[in-house]
Amino acid sequence: MVKILRTELDLGLERPIKILHITDTHITESNDEDDQRMKDLIEMRRKTFIKEGNYAPRTPQEYLIEAFELAEAEGAYSVLTGDITDLNSAGGRIALHECLDGREFLFTAGTHEFQRSSCTPKCCPLEEPGTYYEDTRAALQAEFPWNWDSDSRVIGGINLVTLDNSQGFFTEDAYGKLQCEIEKGLPMILFMHVPLTCETLKRVPHVAPYEFYRFSQEEYEISRKTVDLIESCPMVKATFAGHWHCESLYPDHQPPTFVTPGTYAGIVRLIEIK
Ligand SMILES: [Fe+2]
Repeated sequence: MVKILRTELDLGLERPIKILHITDTHITESNDEDDQRMKDLIEMRRKTFIKEGNYAPRTPQEYLIEAFELAEAEGAYSVLTGDITDLNSAGGRIALHECLDGREFLFTAGTHEFQRSSCTPKCCPLEEPGTYYEDTRAALQAEFPWNWDSDSRVIGGINLVTLDNSQGFFTEDAYGKLQCEIEKGLPMILFMHVPLTCETLKRVPHVAPYEFYRFSQEEYEISRKTVDLIESCPMVKATFAGHWHCESLYPDHQPPTFVTPGTYAGIVRLIEIK
């Protein structure tokens, strides 16, 4: 890897555990099943990410596989927090299979997994058919065996929980999942795509322009309730996210929040919980 960021959390464990946080690999691949529009977009996006990754010498897939090898060498459990593919292209889905099939990990989606254009379905509704987002999400869930909503795994007495906020707000499913996980009574580490400190997660609009973005009042309100629950729950010990493609640390936030840069640039975060 180009850089391994390290974060230590002291939760009083008898046996420390390790987690490798992988996010935003932005795989940019197309193949003959993709139309010309998609091929052109992929080419444009690949050039963008090569530049943003400071001309990273490896492909996103190579960094992703290298990250899994690092996790294995460190005895770390891998958690992926979205934008693993840059667009929902046929070539991208093949690359996902090649990199992820047969591996053990937790996954939550990012903004990009559901896209076939340069904007998100919720953001630019005119670019996509009305049910594009819902249809794509269902198709991806059918093609890939992991849980595309919210998931959890208990490792060494710590409950690792993924919560979906890939479209810029926490879903009702994520809120329900969080309530269920809290009832387990274990210390929790939360993983999500959009950082908890991002204001959009708890903004409830009261003015008409927000209607353009197709977020309903209910969606915003459930999202703010989820943020409030996370911030007031003593069982949540930390949250980790991607999305911003830069390192941002909020150690004094309740709970402490860590943003990991894009793995497309060869960067991952190794978390050790003691
Ligand atoms: Fe991203």
